[in-house]
Amino acid sequence: MADLRNNFVGIKSPNPFWLASAPPTDKAYNVERAFKAGWGGVVWKTLGEEGPPVVNVNGPRYGAIWSSDRRLVGFNNIELITDRPLQLNLQEIKQVKKNWPDRALVVSIMVPCNEDSWKAILPLVEETEADGIELNFGCPHGMSERGMGAAVGQVPEYVEMVVRWCKQYSRMPVITKLTPNVTDVRRPARAAKNGGTDAVSLINTINSITGVDLDNMSPTPSIDGKGTHGGYCGPAAKPIALHMVADIARDKETLGLPISGIGGVTTWRDAAEFIALGAGNVQVCTAAMVYGFKIVEEMVSGLANWMDEKGYRTIEEFSGRASRNVTDWQFLNLDYITKATINQDLCIKCGRCHIACEDTSHQAIMKEKNGVRHFEVMNDECVGCNLCVNVCPVEDCITMEAQAPGTVDERTGRIVTGKYSNWTTHPNNPMRVTEPAE
Ligand SMILES: Cc1cc2nc3c(=O)[nH]c(=O)nc-3n(C[C@H](O)[C@H](O)[C@H](O)COP(=O)(O)O)c2cc1C
Ligand code: SF4
Ligand code: SF4
Repeated sequence: MADLRNNFVGIKSPNPFWLASAPPTDKAYNVERAFKAGWGGVVWKTLGEEGPPVVNVNGPRYGAIWSSDRRLVGFNNIELITDRPLQLNLQEIKQVKKNWPDRALVVSIMVPCNEDSWKAILPLVEETEADGIELNFGCPHGMSERGMGAAVGQVPEYVEMVVRWCKQYSRMPVITKLTPNVTDVRRPARAAKNGGTDAVSLINTINSITGVDLDNMSPTPSIDGKGTHGGYCGPAAKPIALHMVADIARDKETLGLPISGIGGVTTWRDAAEFIALGAGNVQVCTAAMVYGFKIVEEMVSGLANWMDEKGYRTIEEFSGRASRNVTDWQFLNLDYITKATINQDLCIKCGRCHIACEDTSHQAIMKEKNGVRHFEVMNDECVGCNLCVNVCPVEDCITMEAQAPGTVDERTGRIVTGKYSNWTTHPNNPMRVTEPAE
């Protein structure tokens, strides 16, 4: 039976599913119910410094992108950090931790980028006996204009400096939450490591405008006729997050640095993917906001069932297993030949594969045979790109089949060797070497 218990930088939780710092974690009322529903941990909604709390807009603060069946696939917000008084949050954090000692309770913090501000807030949070802190270097709107959030996360020197203060002035484990709004996420990750962070978490939200109201010519969400960029998240953000997690997991300079994976986690499978690419646990925001706290039940049971099926007893057993298979393009095997195959029993003859291949790929799918509508791949033209698989409306109707060694690729006339060969030794590469590099 799979053991889902999680130990992330010494912070223990009964499962690897934490709620990310956001509205689901902004008060004891929510966090208590989240724990009752089964969440392993939470990162409390970001706290700011003592004094008058921030003020949110009083109009719409969310935007969304939907699939054609109205499922929310992308989510955008212009919300700021907590707008509740610091002392109230601290009292509630302390009480909730007391009530739920077996759950992870991490506190997200964002204060101005000066030593005194960090020095002042750290003991207040430490006093709550929370398990750790997460540094919000990612909020891309509102707070960044005030020199915090992403404005810090985008400057590796600042990241390193603030992490260093946190390690110096607190005993709590430090998780540095990174912004995706950078060219190369490895740079802030390395800086966080140099500053002594215990872990990184990513991603925070992506700069975005979800749409334009064409009647009043304002970006949405529109506040009295004007809009601003927000932070994008939800399922549509997952591919960007996975890439960034993988980048950090395989970077020599941050190898072994614990990662909390965030971005579009909606099902157990999403979580398994983050973990396989090197995350030690995951955090969830949009899915909880859209479907409620109870989705964690399916995440927990789904992950446990899959682990049982695969024979993984613990999260550690498969964490990072896929990151070793993330490589650079130049190392991909150019002697791996695949062809698309259409299952005629499943094909509904809609013709979409033909149009896609004909207009934008390699004219490799016939639409007619013996005068009747018929869709079949012509192996002598197919380059194996799999565009047809992606546009076919019937799942598993088109599959990609690898050619066995010794067979002839009808398109090129070459025999498939079954040997690994990549761009580094390819005759067309002016920089080729004699032995393939891996
Ligand atoms: C409405 C909203 C408010 C958020 N507030 C915070 C915040 O206060 N601090 C923070 O670190 N991240 C905040 N986030 C970002 C989330 O914690 C998370 O990084 C992001 O939404 C990606 O995860 P998801 O795709 O599961 O939503 C917020 C996200 C949303 C949607
Ligand atoms: S795999 Fe690409 S080239 Fe081959 S049939 Fe499909 S779309 Fe055409
Ligand atoms: S897209 Fe799929 S279902 Fe439609 S014709 Fe092609 S193979 Fe058949």
